[in-house]
Amino acid sequence: MRRAMLFLLLCVTGAAPSAVAQTAPSDKNGKAVFDKWCAPCHGAVAPARGMFGGGALPGTAALAVKYKGRVPAVLEERSNLAPGFIRTVVRNGVFGMPITRKTEISDAELEDLVAYLTRKSARGG
Ligand code: HEC
Repeated sequence: MRRAMLFLLLCVTGAAPSAVAQTAPSDKNGKAVFDKWCAPCHGAVAPARGMFGGGALPGTAALAVKYKGRVPAVLEERSNLAPGFIRTVVRNGVFGMPITRKTEISDAELEDLVAYLTRKSARGG
């Protein structure tokens, strides 16, 4: 009887994780992924913060030069980032930006990140 109870318990606890499996991409978790992996280079420029002391974060600085104010240099303020563009840049890198591997940001986390960075865009934009 005790054995049967134990077996039952194992079944119940073992089944639990699959019940909370895949959900829709979450821009909330995307923000956490962004803060960990992207903000050190793409964060908002603040005095006395940033990699070189003077608030010059490499990603934000490079995009300020690239777009010359036509679009915000801070990625989180952009409303024209396409999902496919974000995925390609994150997985393949671009100029000064390194590749990010699946062992660092999983495919599910990348989708959360995409949801976060496109939250200001028109649907799917
Ligand atoms: C080591 C610094 C660094 C990190 C970390 C980094 N980036 Fe970048 N990123 C850059 C630089 C520098 C550029 C500009 C490249 C260029 O000159 O076009 C860039 C460009 C981009 C662009 C292209 C924007 C455009 O309009 O051209 C996207 C999108 C982007 N990064 C997303 C991300 C995301 C998402 C992350 C986090 C997973 C991330 N980056 C992490 C440095 C970084």
